[in-house]
Amino acid sequence: MIAKYTVILAAGQGTRMKSKLAKVLHPVCGRPMVDHVLTQAEKLHPDKIVTVIGHGAAAVKTALGQRTDYAVQTEQNGSGDAVLRTEDQLGAAEGMTMVVSGDTPLLTAKTFEQLFEYHKEKGAKATVLTATAADPTGYGRIVRNELGVVEKIVEQKDASREEAAITEINTGVYCFDNQALFAALHEVGNENAQGEYYLTDVIGILKNKGEIVSAYRMKDFTESLGVNTRAALAQATKIMQQRINDDHMTNGVTLVDPAATHIDIDVKIGADTTIEAGVTLKGKTVIGNDCYISTGSALTDATIGNDVRITSSTIEESSMADHSNIGPMSHLRPQSEIGEYVHIGNFCEVKKAQLGAHTKMGHLSYVGDATLGEHINIGCGVVFVNYDGLNKHHSTVGDWSFIGSNANIVAPVKVADHAFVAAGSTITADVDFHEMAIARGRQVNKADYWAKLPHEPEN
Ligand code: UD1
Ligand code: CA
Repeated sequence: MIAKYTVILAAGQGTRMKSKLAKVLHPVCGRPMVDHVLTQAEKLHPDKIVTVIGHGAAAVKTALGQRTDYAVQTEQNGSGDAVLRTEDQLGAAEGMTMVVSGDTPLLTAKTFEQLFEYHKEKGAKATVLTATAADPTGYGRIVRNELGVVEKIVEQKDASREEAAITEINTGVYCFDNQALFAALHEVGNENAQGEYYLTDVIGILKNKGEIVSAYRMKDFTESLGVNTRAALAQATKIMQQRINDDHMTNGVTLVDPAATHIDIDVKIGADTTIEAGVTLKGKTVIGNDCYISTGSALTDATIGNDVRITSSTIEESSMADHSNIGPMSHLRPQSEIGEYVHIGNFCEVKKAQLGAHTKMGHLSYVGDATLGEHINIGCGVVFVNYDGLNKHHSTVGDWSFIGSNANIVAPVKVADHAFVAAGSTITADVDFHEMAIARGRQVNKADYWAKLPHEPEN
């Protein structure tokens, strides 16, 4: 079997993005662009993948980790120079090398596979993946002779009027015979409009040597979209979002308005879950079956069970078990664990707390740094006072306890099982089993007070 290598070009700055962040790290539906490229490349199981890094090298390495080898291009002298930086790792190898750009996040493994098959079939030394663009501006153009044979690739900035009119473009993906590639790269010069060493020149060089050079034209131009600008980033996001959402619908998820629903690529959703417009699901969020998520909800790295109802609420790095519900307008901050059948109503905030099964917290409460058992009733406006200005403290409330409205639970404090806290109490000491704590000023009614006030007598 023929050895396969992949080179991913990811050293460029991406000047046109006008960003501090290296271009290939800009995310599309939850993953950096270059991660999408690597993920698709991995599906072909190459013997080695080398990613060429330069701008933002450390950040790109952090993003991709051990999944690829790296070559460093210190000065960005062009895509040809970038590939040449992998010579130490790949120069001696025999086999087929596929080169892809880190800024074409929509290309799929299936297309890479088709390119590879075509390349083998043609017995070519180089095959370029091309597409027909309605507007080819910015892309390299594929120049073919009168017989339709590929002659060379001309960059936009170096193109004559006639060449610029060509609509068949270079997608930036190629298959090469590895030895032919490196031999040709040494012949690439930089006498062009950008003063760069173009990888695209390898095609013309091999052709002039009499080698077989071919082009595989893919049907769907949108898949080859190269992201050089923020506008293209938005376009790529829209297309990938559509793919992701189509997959969820195929799997039995109802998206009321898919065009207005933002779901990251790694999110998982069970069948018969309904998601309204204006919902954002990010990161590694997992949602079970039969859930209902309404407009304005935003979930990041959330774990949601089955039959959970989320109404216009925000959930971060937290979990909700089966049959629980939340909202409208509530917020689960990181490390909150909501048990089965829990009800969290309007305007509540939970942070780093556990709420046991069947516990209810209907309105306007804050629970932070606390462990709550099962079947607890948290009245309206209860505050877990967890911060003393220096440190956070933890409180616990046992099963079947009742916390009256507007109570303050001043941490650290323990309320046992089957205990009561009277409404309006400020609790600073533990409450034991079956006790009722009341900690508030006693009500005093002053008789005939009205008469003491200076006001006009009523008629
Ligand atoms: C490139 C192609 C163009 C093609 C287009 C497809 C060249 C000369 N041109 O143009 O024919 O139509 O892609 O999207 O290759 N890079 C480096 N080091 C460098 C320069 C670039 O690693 O010194 C990397 C970039 O990070 C990027 C890729 O190579 O991932 C392509 O570079 P870019 O500047 O985006 O090339 P385009 O102008 O888009
Ligand atoms: Ca590009």
